[in-house]
Amino acid sequence: MGGWFQSAAAKLLGRTGTSAIDTLVVTGATRQMAEYAFLVLPALNSVYADAAQQLLQGEIAAFNRTVLRGRLLDIREEKIGGIPYVRFSSDHLGASDVQFLSNLSAIYALFEISGTRLTPIELNPLDRFTSDLITIQKYQGKTNPLFTKLLMNVTVLSTEFADELLSRRMSVFDPLCGRGTTLNQALMYGYDAAGMEIDLKAFDAYSQFLGGWLKNHRIKHNMQVSEIRLQKKILGHRLFVALAPNKELYKSKQFIKIEMINADTRTARTYFKRETFDAIVTDLPYGVRHGSRGSDMDLSRRPLDLLREALPGWKEVLRPGGSIGLSWNIHVAGREKVIDVVADSGLEIVSSEQSFRHTVDQSIVRDLLVGRKRRIMELSVQGTSNVGNVHSHDEVMSRSGGGYLPVPANVDRNERSVPMQAISLS
Ligand SMILES: C[S@@+](CC[C@H](N)C(=O)[O-])C[C@H]1O[C@@H](n2cnc3c(N)ncnc32)[C@H](O)[C@@H]1O
Repeated sequence: MGGWFQSAAAKLLGRTGTSAIDTLVVTGATRQMAEYAFLVLPALNSVYADAAQQLLQGEIAAFNRTVLRGRLLDIREEKIGGIPYVRFSSDHLGASDVQFLSNLSAIYALFEISGTRLTPIELNPLDRFTSDLITIQKYQGKTNPLFTKLLMNVTVLSTEFADELLSRRMSVFDPLCGRGTTLNQALMYGYDAAGMEIDLKAFDAYSQFLGGWLKNHRIKHNMQVSEIRLQKKILGHRLFVALAPNKELYKSKQFIKIEMINADTRTARTYFKRETFDAIVTDLPYGVRHGSRGSDMDLSRRPLDLLREALPGWKEVLRPGGSIGLSWNIHVAGREKVIDVVADSGLEIVSSEQSFRHTVDQSIVRDLLVGRKRRIMELSVQGTSNVGNVHSHDEVMSRSGGGYLPVPANVDRNERSVPMQAISLS
């Protein structure tokens, strides 16, 4: 195959140049193939040890299956000059292909290979802020931020809205958000994010961190911390931040919204409207050091029970076509059991031929699962609430008149440590 046909095909596909080393015939058309390789973040090997390549290949496969339409072929690990790369063949990678790949959690540098020459391709990640947003917080029980990014990517790619990963301000929920690793990653992508966390210390720590970080970086924002009360009883606390990466976006009210509710995740429907989120991304309690806590029973060794009780509410706040990505410690809940709970809730298990299982430490082996909310499932659930909490969502919402902000109108908002503030850019 070659001659006029090959060059005509290359022209048609908008490619010239000398790097093509192979051709692929697909349904009669010839696609000129090129070779690519990327370097993995050096830090990754120390985080995931032996599983690094496998995790990375699983994540690439998720991009390839969805937004890249299976155009990456023969993805493999290969040493070049003694250094391990992930190598693949593809037809020419355009700007948006590179933009998708630039968001791989472990990517360090991308090259096009021509003979023995490696030509760097400039990465163009979605990142809206400086990397210290993700790295600066250090505490026991923090989910590895690279893994959190992988989990968010794989989950968003499993939604029906995957093609909008780069273009739309998605809405992500972490119902067990700790001190906000997922919220920070969502913010990094310019997405709206909401979280729930039962531990008030974690809530306070995140409020302080985010407020301080925004101030230090002179990012214009409006932040509120308040108590959530119902009939004088404190139900929990709420952090709400509206911010914009620059003055112009702030002026035109194109806010990124970050919200954290300090309350039991099993009451998610009390605080969030139906079909609010595009994706739910969460790392379940490991049942080891950082136990799960229920209000009236000790779930510390039973994250599976917590999942079973919380999932109906989580599913309700997820948009049809959206996905839930979970990670958990297989020492406290086997994969089959988690699959059963997720499938029993009516979510479709999104199969993955690649395994994301990896060792975190001696007591934690982490696995990952994604479930998707089918559109058809949701047609008949009007007026139901599956969470057995202090008051039903419909009750609260009908009294509050609904609206994006979840805190009911009949709830007193006593501002606590951080008063309303707007930080101006100089
Ligand atoms: C594995 S940790 C998540 C860590 C988080 N991704 C981070 O990096 O900070 C699980 C979190 O779930 C919280 N949690 C446990 N049970 C809960 C419940 N019933 N409602 C809300 N949060 C809960 C724990 O306090 C813990 O912070």
